[in-house]
Amino acid sequence: MELQDEKPVVLITGCSQGGIGHALAREFASKGCHVVATSRSKRTMQDLEQDSRFFVQELDVVSDESVKNCVENVVEKFGRIDVLVNNAGVPCIGPLAELPLSAMEQSFNTNIYGPIRMVQAVVPHMASRKKGKIVNVGSVTAYIPAPWAGVYAASKCALHSLTDTLRLELHHFGIDVINVVPGAIRSNIGKSSLSSYNQRSVCEGYGGGGDEEEPPSLVLLWYLFHHHGNLVPYARLC
Ligand SMILES: NC(=O)c1ccc[n+]([C@@H]2O[C@H](COP(=O)([O-])OP(=O)(O)OC[C@H]3O[C@@H](n4cnc5c(N)ncnc54)[C@H](OP(=O)(O)O)[C@@H]3O)[C@@H](O)[C@H]2O)c1
Repeated sequence: MELQDEKPVVLITGCSQGGIGHALAREFASKGCHVVATSRSKRTMQDLEQDSRFFVQELDVVSDESVKNCVENVVEKFGRIDVLVNNAGVPCIGPLAELPLSAMEQSFNTNIYGPIRMVQAVVPHMASRKKGKIVNVGSVTAYIPAPWAGVYAASKCALHSLTDTLRLELHHFGIDVINVVPGAIRSNIGKSSLSSYNQRSVCEGYGGGGDEEEPPSLVLLWYLFHHHGNLVPYARLC
């Protein structure tokens, strides 16, 4: 069914409460858009689910099937997708010489292949209408090399580069592609960094976790402060 109104239909990934996607969902809704708020679990978007301005869907960007189902549901409900915001992302902290490749793969799968999976599912719909906008959420860390942030930064570098190519490739189909480069913004990402680091340290047995917890290194402290404390307040979401 194609909606007759002119309000843009905006699909956002990674809308868990407390994060950037959640704030974006609220902002788009306040501007009168139809907002499809998605995340891996509806549990993390309970407040949005109770608000009729949002079409809340579970979506895991590392799963082809989940992406396909979600995009089908949105097209069935609204008949179109005007804006895709590829916001979902995960941190990956640890020294490159020690990080398990599986941790890197998981990060790349979410931060690089996730947005591309979404683009491949959404572009045919946008191209058929010769209209659309794709917003990829990169990171300032892509420009600032920092110890322990190598994998995350590399994933965002790749996303920036892919965004530039997509912009050239999709221009002829009426699709505009932009890269958003946030600085440090208060969200759940610091907690996610810490919990994935601790999980890995217990499994792999390197410093900072386990029963006899060592004090975290200065680099880890820097990273957590940077991401928890709005040390660089380019923007601020509470
Ligand atoms: N906060 C900052 O300082 C900062 C700076 C630069 C860039 N960014 C970028 O901004 C974006 C949003 O991050 P945030 O800071 O708002 O962190 P956040 O609060 O942790 O939000 C990340 C979101 O991504 C979701 N997500 C993770 N893996 C997913 C998957 N496989 N499929 C679907 N959703 C998934 C998370 O869902 P769950 O709740 O299920 O984990 C959560 O909703 C990310 O791309 C991040 O890299 C953040």
